[in-house]
Parts: sequence; C-alpha cells; structure tokens
Amino acid sequence: MKAVVTGCAGFIGSTLVDRLLAEGYDVVGIDSFTDYYDPQVKRRNLEGALRHPAFTLLEGDLVDRDLAADIADAEHVYHLAGQPGVRSSWGDEFEIYLSANVLATQRLLEAAKESAALRRFVYASSSSVYGEAERFPTEETDRPMPRSPYGATKLAGENLCALYAASFGVPTVALRFFTVYGPRQRPDMAFHRFIRAALLDSAVTVYGDGEQVREFTHVDDIVAANMKAATRDVPAGSIINLSGGSSVTVNDVLRELGEILGRPVGVDHFDSVAGDVRRTGGSIDRARQLLDWSPAVPLRAGLESEHAWLAAEMGVRG
Ligand code: NAD
Ligand code: UGA
Repeated sequence: MKAVVTGCAGFIGSTLVDRLLAEGYDVVGIDSFTDYYDPQVKRRNLEGALRHPAFTLLEGDLVDRDLAADIADAEHVYHLAGQPGVRSSWGDEFEIYLSANVLATQRLLEAAKESAALRRFVYASSSSVYGEAERFPTEETDRPMPRSPYGATKLAGENLCALYAASFGVPTVALRFFTVYGPRQRPDMAFHRFIRAALLDSAVTVYGDGEQVREFTHVDDIVAANMKAATRDVPAGSIINLSGGSSVTVNDVLRELGEILGRPVGVDHFDSVAGDVRRTGGSIDRARQLLDWSPAVPLRAGLESEHAWLAAEMGVRG
C-alpha cells in the first residue's frame, strides 16, 4: 500500500509518516519546509524516515508541483500541509494562509479527482472552524463560525473537500483536530512554550486570565484516527471531530506541569489575542461510530511525553 503525506516534515505529518512506515506502507512525503518555524527542526523530524527504504521525500510547494504525478498510484493521501497558527493569521500574513490552506488544497483535490488508484483523501481540518461554538460538546452539524482568518481558510479547505466529494466522488474525509500536543509539537504552541520556559526557569506567557478551555488531543491519538479514516468505510465528504477527551483550562495545564516538574511554574499575564476563542470541546460520537476511535492518551501522560521529549531536545534534566 502506498500513502502520500503532505506536510510530512511538520509536527503531525512526521509523526504520521513514522507510524505508516512502521506499519509497512510505502510513503511519499511532500513538504516545502516553510519558515513558519525553523526548517532545521522539520529536517530533524524526518531524520528517521529518511533512513527508511520505503520513504521518498518530494521537496516543494503544493501550489506549483505536478501533483497528479506526485500522488499517482497512491491509495491514501493525507493532506496535512498548511500554514498553522491561529493568532498570527491577521494582516499581511493572510496571503500565506490563503495559498497554503486554500489554493494548495484545491490543487491537490484537482489531482485527486484524476487518480484511479485513490481510495481515501484525509484532510487535516481544525476545531478553529467552530469559532466561539454555540454549545459543548460541539457537534459536526453545529454552525461553523471561525473567529480567525486561519479558521476561515481551514473551513474553506474543508468545504472544497466536501464539494469535490459531491461533484466528482473524491473519497474525502475531513478530520477536525482539537489542539494537538505531544513530542515534536510546534514551537509556537502553548505546551511547547510552557515546557521550554519552565525548563529554563523562566516565567511562561499566558494570554488573558488562563481560564480559556481546550480539549487538548495527543498526537498519537490523532495519528491513529487518521489511519482509521484512511482504511474504514466512511462516506465520502464526511466531517469528523477528533477531540481529546479532557476539558481543561490553561491554568489547569500549568498546575499539572508544576506537578511534573516538582516546582510551581511562574506566570506572566498578557492581553488575550484576537482570534483566540474562549472554549473548544467536541463531541466524538461520530468518531466512535464511523472510525471506532476514542482518545487513549490521558492529559497527564501526554504532558509527560512532551516534557520528556523537549527536555531531551534541549539537553536539560526535567
Ligand atoms: P506544522 O507547521 O508542523 O506542519 C505543516 C507542514 O506543512 C510544515 O512542515 C510546512 O513546511 C508544510 N507546508 C506548509 N505549506 C506547504 C505547502 N504549500 N506545500 C508543501 N508543504 C507545505 O503544523 P502541524 O501542527 O503539524 O499541523 C498540520 C496540519 O494540521 C495543518 O494543516 C494544521 O492546520 C492542522 N491542524 C493542526 C492542529 C494542531 O493543534 N497542531 C490542530 C488542528 C489542525
Ligand atoms: C491550535 C493549533 O495551533 C492550530 O493549528 C489548530 O488549528 C488549533 O489548535 C485547533 O484546535 O484547531 P490553539 O488552540 O491556539 O491552536 O493552541 P495553543 O497554541 O496550544 O494554545 C492553547 C491556548 O493557550 C490558547 O488559548 C492560547 O491563547 C494559550 N496560550 C498559548 C498562552 O496562554 N500562552 C502561550 O504562550 C501560548
């Protein structure tokens, strides 16, 4: 079986690539090593995969590659490439979001529609499509109302998946990931920033009062769900929440981190940032039903896994 992973050098993409290789897939990875964060970090994410004989790296931007050739004879396409980051998607940056999240997705779907081999196209959507949701746990049928330009582009990508499914039968599934964490987490994300600062004995930066709620989801659970979405019999055009199972505030997370470190974490409060929502939390009824998936990694164990990874990366004792 052959799988293509776009965004293969990123946090989630590289973790998925390693899992697919371990399961015996031939994997083609595509990535343009954008400078959203240090591309050397992304090169390191792929070190193991590049030593594997079943892995091929195609370096380049989805908006100008010959994607029909890139995905030819792949049964599964996992589309994880994108410009992430909720709070940085305003102003001039929006053009990058438009290109990486909308245009790139449309070009990949055009290629997918011509492929005879393709059995599944998995799209990495986001809890940010909901914005300030009307109710919790939020269901997939609830009205999406993004609060950030990033969320608007992820929703556009999701809509493109649904319309290529309806018009051309492209076997898409859009998975709405809820704030993902764990080893290799992006350096701009909360847990990474918190753990790094705490290990350096610096105060962490908290936006607002720290009472914002997230349903953080461990990367191993996200990867498992992606692989189920590729192999299960799910209707084309489906949209499925992947929500981590524990509703916690940023302050709760910092208390847990203090327990792991054996000392309290110092906090500096800053104004809340436009685009950030007060709460996310999704129903996983549909994920259970269609994918037989539910999150397996509890927050404490997941936080410990990220702490152990980052302490090793930084060469410090936890
Ligand atoms: P990441 O930045 O670590 O990975 C994305 C990768 O895509 C990067 O390696 C980047 O170089 C590559 N890329 C970007 N634009 C490209 C293009 N035009 N052509 C080729 N490669 C390109 O981010 P991540 O956290 O691993 O997120 C992966 C996907 O999951 C993204 O689509 C993101 O929107 C989505 N998502 C992430 C989270 C999360 O909490 N991390 C939550 C919801 C959705
Ligand atoms: C994350 C990802 O970054 C997005 O790519 C993804 O699409 C989104 O999840 C999603 O679920 O759809 P976010 O929830 O903002 O976005 O994730 P974090 O960066 O981990 O932030 C979590 C919370 O911590 C936010 O409320 C943020 O304001 C807060 N935070 C973050 C701080 O208080 N301080 C920081 O230094 C960083």
